[in-house]
Amino acid sequence: MATMESLIGLVNRIQRACTVLGDHGGEGMSLWEALPSVAVVGGQSSGKSSVLESVVGRDFLPRGSGIVTRRPLVLQLHKTEGQSEYAEFLHAPKKRFADFVVNLTLIDLPGLTKVAVEGQPESIVEDIEMMVRSYVEKPNCIILAISPANQDIATSDAIKLAREVDPSGERTFGVLTKLDLMDKGTNALDVLEGRAYRLLHPWVGIVNRSQADINKNVNMMHARQKEREYFESSPEYGHLAHKMGAEFLAKLLSQHLEKVIRQRIPSIIALINKTIDELNAELDRIGRPIGVDGGAQLYTILEMCRAFDRVFKEHLD
Ligand code: GDP
Ligand code: NA
Ligand code: MG
Repeated sequence: MATMESLIGLVNRIQRACTVLGDHGGEGMSLWEALPSVAVVGGQSSGKSSVLESVVGRDFLPRGSGIVTRRPLVLQLHKTEGQSEYAEFLHAPKKRFADFVVNLTLIDLPGLTKVAVEGQPESIVEDIEMMVRSYVEKPNCIILAISPANQDIATSDAIKLAREVDPSGERTFGVLTKLDLMDKGTNALDVLEGRAYRLLHPWVGIVNRSQADINKNVNMMHARQKEREYFESSPEYGHLAHKMGAEFLAKLLSQHLEKVIRQRIPSIIALINKTIDELNAELDRIGRPIGVDGGAQLYTILEMCRAFDRVFKEHLD
């Protein structure tokens, strides 16, 4: 199975190829836009930002009990050549890099609310829902539907919205946060084992950093370790420990991304081959004048297409 990092590398290459093809033909862009993005959806303070960070394994989002994200925070991850560290962050909604070094887009959406609080316009509840909906209704958007375990799952706005925009559940991952904050004597096994609300993909239980942990600057590695220990030592969830936590969620997500990307590879290869044929015909016509600006440029594009084609084929094996 591909790791999140190798997938990010592949998405990057596909996006570059699609950009080149898009410049040349025009069909390229639509393929590029069809590549998956991942968005977290849920009520305010349900743990959306915490989950996104924990899945990526890095701290970079505004997070905390008093912090409300009012705009979608679009996060674009990319891997720098020769470095294992990656992360690029855009605090601007819908903004896209002009130079296409982008690969995986993660979106921290504003929390769904039920009432307008003091000083907010009455329309805020609907406005937020419409904005969130505009992101998650896109067929290429993978939804992390976040529900806190200390609230009744039947009241989950995340699940309600996910079900509306993705009835088959193919692109919805149910995430149950705050397992550590449930009332004593209760547990979330009905949800986690799919009896309370059945989803296509398995539910994943999460224990993020508490506000006290955040105040104490508990780092990501430590938080993940504590989460692992929580599940492994839990009398209720011990038998599910291997299917719980942010690291497992990251694995599920990687698997899903890999599947989605693989499904797109054949049509991308077909497009590359078509473009290669067109470029060859054009190079034949102008007699391959390498060194002459126009011809050299086309030749470079052709070589890039061939390189991408090889990379995709290697990934298919
Ligand atoms: P968001 O508003 O949905 O993005 O939620 P945040 O990620 O900012 O978290 C809101 C608050 O809940 C913060 O104080 C977090 O520390 C806390 N929190 C989130 N998830 C958990 C969890 O699983 N357990 C505990 N104890 N606290 C959590
Ligand atoms: Na918050
Ligand atoms: Mg947040």
